Amino acid sequence: MFKKLAATLVVLLGAGAVTAQEITYRADVAPLWKSRCVACHGAQAPERADFLLNEKGYAAKSQGPRMDSYERLIAFIAWPDTGALMRRLDDGTSPYAGGKPGNMYLYLGSTDQERADNLKLVKAWVGDGAWALNRWNKRGDVPMISKEQLDNIQAKY
Ligand code: HEC
Repeated sequence: MFKKLAATLVVLLGAGAVTAQEITYRADVAPLWKSRCVACHGAQAPERADFLLNEKGYAAKSQGPRMDSYERLIAFIAWPDTGALMRRLDDGTSPYAGGKPGNMYLYLGSTDQERADNLKLVKAWVGDGAWALNRWNKRGDVPMISKEQLDNIQAKY
């Protein structure tokens, strides 16, 4: 009896997770990214490591680090730039955001509604429980990212 119940629960919970899992980089995130982020993070932009050598110089030319592929983008979610995508795109409501939206949030859309909808999509893509602003290492009051938080990352291709 208990076994049966447990099996039913697994099926139900599994079904609930399907929607989030169906959001993919190819179908959902890449098109959004191309319309909203490519201008400053595309093929003309420096690779992340290069960017870091002259952050101010590149930023002055409206060039951020290049993130125009799945692998490149993941570097700003998981490692080495753990949580960067989340810190920059957050609307200010997440823990450690200090009530302030990240400075790339604005680019998520041209209206509040569009920004909110696109943020919801990116959040669901990154994964339930994986939208964390923490870095790889502790900084100030912000603890380091936990293995549990990293385990929640879906970011399906
Ligand atoms: C008008 C140009 C512009 C647009 C459009 C833009 N960005 Fe940026 N972005 C920058 C610049 C310049 C920097 C580097 C300066 C800074 O850190 O703010 C940056 C930094 C970032 C960083 C931090 C990288 C790091 O060093 O850790 C992330 C993440 C990011 N952008 C994501 C995005 C996303 C996602 C979009 C689309 C929704 C986007 N940006 C749209 C110019 C832009």
